[in-house]
Parts: sequence; C-alpha cells; structure tokens
Amino acid sequence: MALITEGKVKSVYDIFNDEDKVHIRFHDKVTAGNGRTIDYPEDKGKVCCLISAFLFEIIKKHGIPTHFLGTDGSNTMVCKKVNIIPLEVVVRNVAAGSIVRQTTIEEGTEFNWPLIEFFLKDDAKDDPLLTTDRIIQMGYDMEDVGEMEIMAREVNSLLKETFDSIGLTLVDFKLEFGYDSGQNLLLADELSPDGMRLWKEGKSFDKDLFRKEEGDIVEAYKYIL
Ligand code: TMP
Repeated sequence: MALITEGKVKSVYDIFNDEDKVHIRFHDKVTAGNGRTIDYPEDKGKVCCLISAFLFEIIKKHGIPTHFLGTDGSNTMVCKKVNIIPLEVVVRNVAAGSIVRQTTIEEGTEFNWPLIEFFLKDDAKDDPLLTTDRIIQMGYDMEDVGEMEIMAREVNSLLKETFDSIGLTLVDFKLEFGYDSGQNLLLADELSPDGMRLWKEGKSFDKDLFRKEEGDIVEAYKYIL
C-alpha cells in the first residue's frame, strides 16, 4: 500500500485497486505541545482505533455522514478517501484548556448551550482560533461551515450520552471534516480520547494525562474501551 500522508500519530495509505478508500493506521505513539513531547506506549494505536471505530458506528447509525467504513485488524480503520478541510471544529460542554487560558471563564464552568469554535489546522501557526469574518475571508462556503456546526452539535449529543452511560463527562472534543470525491461533506479523522477531554470524579481519562504527566493514558483508554 502506498503512503498518502503521515500525521503525528496516524498514517493514511491508498488501497490497491480501490481509489475511493483508504486505510488509516493508528500508531503506538502520543504527542503533545504540537509534537514537542513524544512517547510510544504499547497498545495505544489499537485502543484508539477501536474506540474510534465504536464511536463512528454509533454516529453512522444515527444518519450523520462519515468517512468510516469499517476496520481491518485492530489498529486500522477503512475509510472513504476525503480531502480534509484544514479547520478544527471544537465543541465545549465544560470550560477547560485554551478557553480557560485565553479568557476569564473559570475551569469547570458548564455551558448550557455547547460552544462551537473553529481553529485553523496549521501546526506552523499553532492552530489559531478563527472568527466568522476570518473564515469568510479565507474563502469558505458559510453554508458548509453552518453544516459542520449542525453536525458537530449532533455528534456532541450522541457522544455525551455514550460517555454519560459509563460515568464520564464529555468536557470538550475536536472534529475534522472532509469532502469525498462527490463533494459530500463527511465527518472524518478519528474519534478517540486523544482529541477529547473526559472527566470522572476529578480525574482525566484523556490525553491531558500525558500533557500534564499525570498518569498512564493507555490504562485510561483501555478503561474507556
Ligand atoms: P483546547 O482546549 O486546547 O482548545 O482543545 C479543545 C479540545 O480539542 C481538547 O479536547 C483537545 C482537542 N484538540 C485536539 O485534539 N487537537 C487540536 O489541535 C486542538 C486545537 C484541540
């Protein structure tokens, strides 16, 4: 299989004889601080892939269009090939992370109406927060941006309910979208605790464990799985 692109913890491969599908392989690797801190914990790829596949199944079942088609082994998702839109869509139910660092909102503040924020997906620019006017000036179709917000809110309801059922609070998470060959807007990338904050009884069950050197992420992710 030919490598199409290599992310920080995943690689995307072409599938021989099928130009509309790709394999996304999850590596035993974790990074933080825009790739400045790296570790290679055993089983991490497999656990993220299986959590991601499980959550994509739920979202698909509820009619939200996604790139997810299935799995191939335990560390690889089979997906529709998409052109990723270089925007990161963050949903926040509870204040944590950058919103606390950058505003006067206190950590733990619960939002009755979840916040939707758009960031530029560009490590070289440190993924800045965007405004609606900036998104328009960057040339995005506001109808598609609105559609991403609607899908993000629907995904939030489903994920919140799923994590609530195992006693975890879904604090926030990041989504990415892409266009398939027919220009359909699909939810893409992954849905794993690497791109979420999950809290239970004052403890984190997500990548903050690694970011803050507070515990073993694979143990936490296996608990979720
Ligand atoms: P933030 O508090 O750093 O803005 O992150 C909000 C959520 O989005 C958090 O769950 C982590 C996730 N996220 C990513 O996974 N990748 C990113 O590049 C960014 C900006 C956020």
